[in-house]
Amino acid sequence: MVGEQAAVLVAGGTGSIGQRLVPELVRQGYRVRLLVRAVQRARQLFPHGVELYRWDTRQTIPGEALAGVWGVVNLVGVPIARRWTAAYRREILQSRVDATRALAEAICRLQDPRPAVFLSVSATGYYGNKGEELCTEETAPGEDFLAQVCQHWEAAAQEAAPCTRVVIPRLAAVLDRRAGLLARLLPTFRSFLGGSIGTGQQWVPWVHWHDVVSFMLWALQSPTVKGVYNLAAPEPVRYRQLCEALGRQLRRPCWLRIPVWALRIAYGALADALCASQRVVPRRAIAEGFSFRFAKLQEALQYELAQGT
Ligand SMILES: NC(=O)c1ccc[n+]([C@@H]2O[C@H](COP(=O)([O-])OP(=O)(O)OC[C@H]3O[C@@H](n4cnc5c(N)ncnc54)[C@H](OP(=O)(O)O)[C@@H]3O)[C@@H](O)[C@H]2O)c1
Repeated sequence: MVGEQAAVLVAGGTGSIGQRLVPELVRQGYRVRLLVRAVQRARQLFPHGVELYRWDTRQTIPGEALAGVWGVVNLVGVPIARRWTAAYRREILQSRVDATRALAEAICRLQDPRPAVFLSVSATGYYGNKGEELCTEETAPGEDFLAQVCQHWEAAAQEAAPCTRVVIPRLAAVLDRRAGLLARLLPTFRSFLGGSIGTGQQWVPWVHWHDVVSFMLWALQSPTVKGVYNLAAPEPVRYRQLCEALGRQLRRPCWLRIPVWALRIAYGALADALCASQRVVPRRAIAEGFSFRFAKLQEALQYELAQGT
């Protein structure tokens, strides 16, 4: 059992996942500390109940932020869904690896008591383009840019393994009406411009934000949970099915099909990553007793869209 008022340090907590996770940590009685680049913006997001420490990944992590901390959560990374210029690809890699390595090194430099757990995210992009193959945690990594980013990112997190329990969730696209894939699709569908990309046959791993938060709390609190976990709903769907399900929920058509070449003009090499097929299953999480509230896409969409904006 975690002691009352255990302190959890979150890096990247102002992002879309952090905005879901941090209030739940506070609600469960943790003392939450955030490492942030912009203190004022963070204070607007979290007016009460969290301690803020300024940190840019090029600087040393403030010692007070780490002192006596029980758990560390790492969510840092510049957004993927932008046009991939050479400079932006460097940022995608560096923002993740530098922050993760800095956190791992800081954890290992601490003397007793060291944090009991370091949860550092990765992504299902690790698998690259795997067609129809079922991807479990044992599946080999892909070879494309995102797959390489994920491998470096995970290796940086594993640097803390000699010093603490390391948990690495490989996150699927998080279903959240406020951010990410769903937030991008909603306006196009509402404007009757819904449709799929590429062939539409590619598998899209997804996970509801509720399950992301629950998984993170479960992983933090379970001493036997350790290593890499696919954090994707148990029933992945093809991109076309995702769009049809969204169309049904919104009572809008899913009729457009944007070919990869058109996406490449708009997004550069990101287009190929968007059309990669990853049939990811959360084998370890299920085997070790985590239960997903949203296994079926239709139910997840129905719940999410019923919440308003
Ligand atoms: N959401 C998804 O669907 C999804 C899927 C797979 C993997 N992931 C991964 O999960 C992590 C969190 O996702 P998210 O959706 O919450 O991302 P997000 O909304 O883009 O938030 C990312 C966070 O990282 C911080 N950050 C970005 N660049 C930084 C830098 N150079 N130095 C320090 N902090 C920096 C941001 O801080 P500021 O507020 O200061 O900008 C923000 O708090 C990311 O690494 C993402 O790649 C997310």
